[in-house]
Amino acid sequence: MDKYEHVTYAPGTYAWHINRRQRVYLRGLIRRAFPDLRPTLHDFACGTGRAIRNLDGLVWYAHGYDTSPDMLAKAAELGTEADLHTVATGGPVPQPVATDGPALVTMFRLLLNVDDDVRERALAFAARALPNAETGLLVVENHGNRRSLRHLRARRHTGRRWFAELSHAQVARLLRRHGFEVVARRGFSMLTPGWYDRPLLRPFARTADGLACRLPGSAGWAVNVVYVARRTA
Ligand SMILES: C[S@@+](CC[C@H](N)C(=O)[O-])C[C@H]1O[C@@H](n2cnc3c(N)ncnc32)[C@H](O)[C@@H]1O
Repeated sequence: MDKYEHVTYAPGTYAWHINRRQRVYLRGLIRRAFPDLRPTLHDFACGTGRAIRNLDGLVWYAHGYDTSPDMLAKAAELGTEADLHTVATGGPVPQPVATDGPALVTMFRLLLNVDDDVRERALAFAARALPNAETGLLVVENHGNRRSLRHLRARRHTGRRWFAELSHAQVARLLRRHGFEVVARRGFSMLTPGWYDRPLLRPFARTADGLACRLPGSAGWAVNVVYVARRTA
C-alpha cells in the first residue's frame, strides 16, 4: 500500500500524470453531468481512496467498497472523506448503500487485472447502484487497452505480449451484459511508463502525451482509457 502511494503514484511518475489528467477530466464531467444536484459516489474497488479524493467537494456523499481491510485502513489514514465498506470476494453481489438522488459509480484499475467473475460482479454492483438511465453515470478505467501503441510495439519486438490487455469491444460487451452503453471514451496516455522513467525523455513524454490524449480519436489507441456509461433503459 505504501508502495502504491509513494512509488507508483509518486509525483512525476507515469501513474501520477495519468491521475492528474483523469482528475481534471472527471471533475469537468461531473460538473456538466450533474449541474443541479451533486451525485452520491460509489467507488468500487476503491483501494486507498485515490478516486474518491480526486472528486472531493463535487459529490454529495462518498462510499468506498473494497475487499481489502488494509487498503481501506490506508484510505482512512490518508483522510479520504467517505464511508468505507469491506465487501466479500465471493457470494452474493455486494449491495451499494441505498441513497436518494443521482449517483456516480467509479471503478479504477480493477477490470484489467481480475478474472471474469470479478468483472461480472463489479458490473452487477454498478447496475444495482444505477437501476436506470436517469440515476446517473458509470465511469470505468481500462489501463491496458489492447489496441494501443504499446500493443503494436510489443508485437513488433517479440511477437508476444507480457502484460494484461482488455479491448474496447470486451469492455463494451461486459457493460452491455449489465444494461450499460458507453456514452464517452477518453484516453489518458498514449505512451508507456518507460518514456516517463528516463529523465531525459520525461519532459518531452509528459508534454507530448498530454497533448496527444486531447486529439480526436486518440482514445482508440491510448494505453489508458476511461469509459463513461449510462444504463440503456
Ligand atoms: C490496483 S487497486 C486500485 C485501487 C483504486 N481503485 C485506485 O485506482 O487507486 C485494485 C483494488 O481492487 C480491490 N479488489 C480486488 N478484487 C476485488 C473485488 N472482488 N471486489 C472489490 N474490490 C476488489 C483490491 O483490494 C484493490 O484495492
